[in-house]
Amino acid sequence: METLFRKAVDISGAEERETLLLAGKILREGGLVVFPTETVYGLGADALNPLAAQKIYAAKGRPSDNPLIVHIADPSEAEGLVHTSALYYKLARAFMPGPLTVIMPKKECIPKEVTAGLDTVAIRCPQHPVARELIACAGVPVAAPSANLSGSPSPTDASHVKDDMKGRVDMIIDGGACEVGLESTIVKIESESELTLLRPGAVTKEDLEALNVKVTVASAVLGALKEGETVLSPGMKYRHYAPRAPLLLLEGTALERENFLKEREGKIAYLGYDEEREVLSSLPLRFYAMGGEADTKKQASLLFSLLREADKEDYDVIYAPAPAPTGMGMALYNRMIRAAAHQIIHLGDNK
Ligand code: TXA
Ligand code: MG
Repeated sequence: METLFRKAVDISGAEERETLLLAGKILREGGLVVFPTETVYGLGADALNPLAAQKIYAAKGRPSDNPLIVHIADPSEAEGLVHTSALYYKLARAFMPGPLTVIMPKKECIPKEVTAGLDTVAIRCPQHPVARELIACAGVPVAAPSANLSGSPSPTDASHVKDDMKGRVDMIIDGGACEVGLESTIVKIESESELTLLRPGAVTKEDLEALNVKVTVASAVLGALKEGETVLSPGMKYRHYAPRAPLLLLEGTALERENFLKEREGKIAYLGYDEEREVLSSLPLRFYAMGGEADTKKQASLLFSLLREADKEDYDVIYAPAPAPTGMGMALYNRMIRAAAHQIIHLGDNK
């Protein structure tokens, strides 16, 4: 398949408008368009067209039991797709458009190809102007998973998308680097006062709790799934974001990490905090700076692109500190334990 490449960082110019009109037409006609969002790039198709949705699974190599998020241009458009509630509108007022996805009971019009047979559907109203304008131009809700090949890190830059999706989609819209860098927070509405947090993101548990709702974190978010345990969100059970070289997370203090890294041999990469750079500079490892230790926003925006960058070299092993799982750190921790296939080294224990 020939892939059209277009640039649209914003929607101000005539060229951008032309691009979005064409992209909208491609979506309406059942094609695939990769577009930027504030979280990661999405691989979009008409959410009401079962054949178009099927094409997404083929392009990504995605298991067919993993449902898609349906993107809308305005929170009110959820009305035609799902059974909404007062809590949905409370969430919408607080966080939409933005990096929050809400799971609600689906209406008839959503094909089973989008929900992988579930009776619920995930709804998200993205903030990125190009994403919103594209959905508006398409005139249909847009089903879109992250635009990576299944199993690799979500793309946060158009170059990542090209690596994974060239020749597999009809159009790629280059909108530059994604601001957040980790996928949206996913919550399921359980009752008018209760949410289950299925995937942490830039809308944090603390942000949600500020609305006076009870937020239960699904067990798979911070830990490994136990044998036989059912997953609330099918995507959680797959090995994810994993670089080719094994990634190992280091839990401990900066000094413990330094001492540990001093004793390693081989071709090593370390995704470290800015504060660690100098003290580690004499060690024979390649240092990838993730931002300051307290700057979880920066770390989130860099994680996936650093994993992809490190993957281009042939490292024996990649180490990274295990982040504290609070605030934005919960989203980082969730992605990093998956990328690490849950391999965490507890440094304090080894003394
Ligand atoms: O930020 C994002 O959410 C990006 C951008 C493109 O919007 N999209 C994204 O989609 O991350 P994807 O397909 O990579 O991840 C969607 C996750 C999967 O883990 C899937 O299992 C879960 O959402 N999901 C979708 N529908 C669901 C449902 N009805 N119930 C439970 N989990 C659901
Ligand atoms: Mg994904």
